Amino acid sequence: MKITLVSGARPNFMKISPIVKALDIAILEGYNIKYRIIHTGQHYDHNMSSNFFAQLGIPMPDNNLKCSSGSQAEQTAKIMIEFEKELIQNFPDIVVVVGDVNSTMACAITSKKLGIKTVHVEAGIRSGDMAMPEEINRVVTDAICDDFFTTSEFANLNLKNLQIPSNKIHFVGNTMIDTLVQNFNKMKAPEFWDAFELKKNNYFILTLHRPINVDNPVYLESLLKNISLITNGYKIIFPIHPRTKSIIDSFLIPVNNILLVEPQSYNEFIFLITYSKAVITDSGGISEETTVLNIPCITLRDTTERPETVLNGSNVLVGNNMDLLNSNIQLILNNQWKNATLPMLWDGHAAERIVNTLILKYYPN
Ligand code: UD1
Repeated sequence: MKITLVSGARPNFMKISPIVKALDIAILEGYNIKYRIIHTGQHYDHNMSSNFFAQLGIPMPDNNLKCSSGSQAEQTAKIMIEFEKELIQNFPDIVVVVGDVNSTMACAITSKKLGIKTVHVEAGIRSGDMAMPEEINRVVTDAICDDFFTTSEFANLNLKNLQIPSNKIHFVGNTMIDTLVQNFNKMKAPEFWDAFELKKNNYFILTLHRPINVDNPVYLESLLKNISLITNGYKIIFPIHPRTKSIIDSFLIPVNNILLVEPQSYNEFIFLITYSKAVITDSGGISEETTVLNIPCITLRDTTERPETVLNGSNVLVGNNMDLLNSNIQLILNNQWKNATLPMLWDGHAAERIVNTLILKYYPN
């Protein structure tokens, strides 16, 4: 059974790592499975890409398509052209795409048009916000895939509402949490830990990269100023995404009282959130990790495709409402945050379930 695994942007790497490990175990058990890891090159900086391969023990990609940057259409088109060549040269039985980045959608379309069974890991989640490229990627990918591996009952319901037959929906849990479980004891303090005098609970983590939060420099400046004022007395560690960095640099946005650091590798980032007072973010994946780690999380978005992080978890949505942001930060400072409970099947075994399902459905008899 030949499998091609697609990864392209930072959040994909945490999602494919446990699948690779589960495939290796199946191969050791005697299954004749061959897999190729394809990196589309969507993310390419060392600390956005190869660092994660090294720390998570993912083998070097068999092919890097080097499709970096560009507009939405350029990036998607470049990935489709290069991925088609890869698939024609190394024709697999199954293509696995994960998550919701441009690489996910581009490779799903390419694979499906070549008549290859295409399966989507983290299928069915929906924010309802079609202004986000990720939502379009989710809708398109789920419209054409053959099998759907889901992280939540919400995702199952969304897929059922699309009339997808239940034998194609596989509720397996969350591969990102598999990675958290598998690597938790490898977490380590970043090199700036002592220099910044960081201690458990004396700092917030801030991450921002969504166009809605960072592309308007006036808004970004007011947001940063507000956060630095309201968290008075706490340090703010801001691992800065390249997209955000280029806007801060171009518009000379002041970042008073905020400690800017490079994008962190996985082991350092998990360490930082584990010991933080709270996380302020516009990421979806981080709100899953803070839910499992029971760390308060404020999300600077109006919607989430991961409602379980709000309903079961430690996440709240504040959008761009500064009053709501400030009152939630105050709750955190007063130690009045809700306690998270673990969403169903977020137990570290999702990738095993995915590989077992692929074997059951597709392994030749
Ligand atoms: C992408 C994903 C987003 C995900 C995020 C995680 C899409 C539509 N968006 O957003 O869902 O949450 O990754 O980080 O797929 N850049 C670099 N070095 C890199 C990567 C990017 O300098 O290694 C710069 C480039 O100038 C690029 C810009 O960042 O044009 C944005 O990168 P891109 O991959 O287009 O989108 P992200 O904002 O990273």
